[in-house]
Amino acid sequence: MDATRIIEEALDQFGQDFTARFEAATTEQALRDEKATVLGKKGKLTEILKQMGRVPPEDRKRIGERVNALKEQVETRFSERLAALRNLRRQAELSAPPFDLSMPARIPTPRGHLHPLTQTQSDLLAIFRDLGFLAVEGPEVELEEYNFTKLAFPPDHPATDMQDTFWVSVAGAPSGARTLLRTHSSAVQIREMTRRRPPMALVSTGAVYRRDDDITHSPMFFQMEGFLVDHRVTFGHLKAVLSTFAERFYGPGTRTRFRPSYFPFVEPGAEVDVSCVFCGGEGCRICKYTGWIEILGCGMIHPAVFEHCNLDPEALTGFAFGLGVDRIAMLRYGISDIRLFYENNPRFLAQF
Ligand code: PHE
Repeated sequence: MDATRIIEEALDQFGQDFTARFEAATTEQALRDEKATVLGKKGKLTEILKQMGRVPPEDRKRIGERVNALKEQVETRFSERLAALRNLRRQAELSAPPFDLSMPARIPTPRGHLHPLTQTQSDLLAIFRDLGFLAVEGPEVELEEYNFTKLAFPPDHPATDMQDTFWVSVAGAPSGARTLLRTHSSAVQIREMTRRRPPMALVSTGAVYRRDDDITHSPMFFQMEGFLVDHRVTFGHLKAVLSTFAERFYGPGTRTRFRPSYFPFVEPGAEVDVSCVFCGGEGCRICKYTGWIEILGCGMIHPAVFEHCNLDPEALTGFAFGLGVDRIAMLRYGISDIRLFYENNPRFLAQF
């Protein structure tokens, strides 16, 4: 057989061979490997072309054209097969069971919930919002003037003592002004009565601070303050609001009792007890066998406080009350140690 014939047969064989190899490749990588075997420097075609030297010159052009056509065929088949393989893979993905990214993990992720104090705080706020009170906020670092002076605390009042109050220094505070971590939420009264004109009915909750630390006192705790200012507001309005509150929070039939008490910024002042929610007033360990539980301090806003806020004490009256959110929550959930609220023990918190 002459060289031309041999090479032509080899090329025929090559043409069938690579088509079969490409069809047999089932992955993109396998296909690329086959292409390298076919066309590469050490590939089949290179091997065949080594015999070109023996082909008579008059046949070379024809053979050369044949080779080029084959190369083009290889490229075409390759791209076709590549497209087909990609399409197959896509179809397989589309018909496979869907991969659900939103599916929960097999190990359940523990879910948190609102802190019992936050829950209590929002329940309290909701009642006063229903009664028409607007919720406002005040800063935890407060001026002495707002926390004590304008609330008519005399300068030597024991509450202002170093031992009772966290005095702090604040960069940028007005010169000569003393600052502290507010000891009660009543400072909000001053802020709001200075900025707003009556009528106003406001509530405010937030952290307050005192140098106290035992099973019923925490250096940081939460209070809720409420106050209402208008013309002709009476102690009767105060009683109505607080007894309505007590019945909504503790249930219908809950009774309230007002005992005279003293706070420098109210006159008259009172402490409010509710009939014991545990024994209904019969007397139990929780109410110390009195049938009553103390829940808040309140009173009619002192005329001096109005004056300090540039409001006319002849024209206006108002009431204010303040309650300890922690105490309310402790009674509500039967918790005996206030410090549990702040230890962040998940086994404690998970119970509420
Ligand atoms: N601020 C008082 C306290 O912390 C509570 C109070 C508020 C009393 C408003 C009367 C009126 O004890």
